[in-house]
Amino acid sequence: MRKNIIAGNWKMNTTLPEGLALAKGLNKALEGKSLKCDVVIGTPFTHLAGVAAAVDTARIGVAAQNCADRDKGAYTGEVSAAMIASTGAGYVILGHSERRQYYHETAATLKAKVALALANGLKPIFCVGEVLEEREAGKHFDIVDQQVRDSLFDLTPEDFSRIVIAYEPVWAIGTGKTATADQAQEIHAHIRRTIASRYGEAIAADTTILYGGSMNADNARDLVARPDVDGGLIGGASLSVEKFLPIVEAF
Ligand code: PGA
Repeated sequence: MRKNIIAGNWKMNTTLPEGLALAKGLNKALEGKSLKCDVVIGTPFTHLAGVAAAVDTARIGVAAQNCADRDKGAYTGEVSAAMIASTGAGYVILGHSERRQYYHETAATLKAKVALALANGLKPIFCVGEVLEEREAGKHFDIVDQQVRDSLFDLTPEDFSRIVIAYEPVWAIGTGKTATADQAQEIHAHIRRTIASRYGEAIAADTTILYGGSMNADNARDLVARPDVDGGLIGGASLSVEKFLPIVEAF
């Protein structure tokens, strides 16, 4: 059966001391609790090794927010999947809309990143989602299908089984405007059918599909109650234990 996951995406926030304090605070807050979901925190590259050493990684998975599309070598400023794995991180967020929009990540680049992440033992949290104009034009189903197909559908069934999908409507990210639970359920079920058409019902049923976009303590319970919403990718509300903990406890 598929896993429920609540994953934080810290984006470009927190200095190293602040990030370590946040991670340790969360670790302490989760101590002794029996949770109905896995917890992951996505930190800046600079924090990965320190955070992985500071938390109980059996309870809190650590994620990078990106990785290079090359294996290694003369790519100044890039961080490889192997480097990330060597810090103790187990996940990498790929294809976030901010990366697609501001850093021009294409389907082909993302395909390379996914392959390298998997080859180095990292679990990709692969983000898809439409912009407002696409939703208003009723194209959201086609857009997410295309994003999933273009970067993931050449994977073997075995590799695909290690992917976590995050549906994040771009119009809901950091805007305070969340998709309704009905909207999330509708498109998550659609994504699952698309996966089933390529990889079969069993793999589709086992794929974790997260919702992301202004998810918070108030709306989390309603969202994760839907059958195809298996958790969340949380930006703003992952930056404090007080805001993140109730989301973790929403299951
Ligand atoms: P948000 O960000 O929760 O701040 O809307 C979500 C994300 O971008 O992953």
